[in-house]
Amino acid sequence: MNDALALPVGTTLDRFIMKKQEDFPFATGELSQLLRDIALAAKIVSREISRADQDTVGKFGKQNIQGEDQQKLDVIANIRFIRALRNGGEVCTIVSEEEENLIHTGNSHAKYIVAMDPLDGSSNIDVNIPTGTIFGIYRRLSDGGQEGTLEDCLQKGTQQVAAGYILYGASTMLVYTTGCGVNGFTYEPSLGEFFLSHPDMKIPDRGKQYSCNEANVSDFPLGIQNYLAFCKEQKYSSRYIGSLVADFHRNLLKGGIYFYPGSSKNKTGKLRLLYECNPLAFIAEQAGGQATDGIDRILDKEPSELHERCPLVIGSSEMIDKVRKYMTL
Ligand code: AHG
Ligand code: MN
Ligand code: MN
Repeated sequence: MNDALALPVGTTLDRFIMKKQEDFPFATGELSQLLRDIALAAKIVSREISRADQDTVGKFGKQNIQGEDQQKLDVIANIRFIRALRNGGEVCTIVSEEEENLIHTGNSHAKYIVAMDPLDGSSNIDVNIPTGTIFGIYRRLSDGGQEGTLEDCLQKGTQQVAAGYILYGASTMLVYTTGCGVNGFTYEPSLGEFFLSHPDMKIPDRGKQYSCNEANVSDFPLGIQNYLAFCKEQKYSSRYIGSLVADFHRNLLKGGIYFYPGSSKNKTGKLRLLYECNPLAFIAEQAGGQATDGIDRILDKEPSELHERCPLVIGSSEMIDKVRKYMTL
């Protein structure tokens, strides 16, 4: 059931979460609290991004586990989300792009695991271009009373109980799903509230925009190269911001396709399965779209490592079908 239909545009996120919880008589309120904790961190990170001062702009001076230079804002966002999830008390263990190992919050009785990319779009930090946060939420498999385990964190995307992203753009938006459709909320800084602005979001079945880093085209698999040629024949538009959240969000609203395929050098591409591909795949499917690695469904993949990478082809359903055809010809 999608109760968003019953809730008007302008409903606050808090009220929306509370109303949604009422649909599940046995809900304990823990997931609701967790979503509020994420919204709190999102507000703080949104403020830090827009400050753009000496404390927030520039390199941090270290590299993360992926060997990428961390920006100050990567570190700030990581700290803010971890702190909000720790203080909120509903999460036992976190997987973060910015940390090699699991982060245990000390809330050993909490039943949720969060996998997150605290700040997505590293090349767009510091240049006043949209960035994002991506998160996926899982129920732990292990018994409470101890730290979450690696097995708790390496669940398939189908096991997500909720997932979402925050887009720090011209306005800040939080878009999430708990498996009953997708809803988008816009932040109003002067009131400190997220308000329902995009109820029951649906991605058009087809679009006329494609998003990929075309500089890499000669390394793309042949099927993707041929699909790209098809897009050009069709006179589709190329739209690539280089922030996955922003590119995905635009395609969600307007229809389109985003792909970051594997290459001859990096067979699994660049994006991370646990905290980039899986959450967005859950949202795409809930909005009526698809997410694959070019052929197979992202949400069915069995993760084997925290930071593993995966090719991603995501967006409007008919466009994803077309890519699958080209890939299997
Ligand atoms: P992150 O900043 O979390 O490392 O992710 C960046 C990702 C993604 O946001 C974007 O779509 C992609 O990297 C861009 O990669 P290219 O610069 O290779 O196009
Ligand atoms: Mn990212
Ligand atoms: Mn990141």
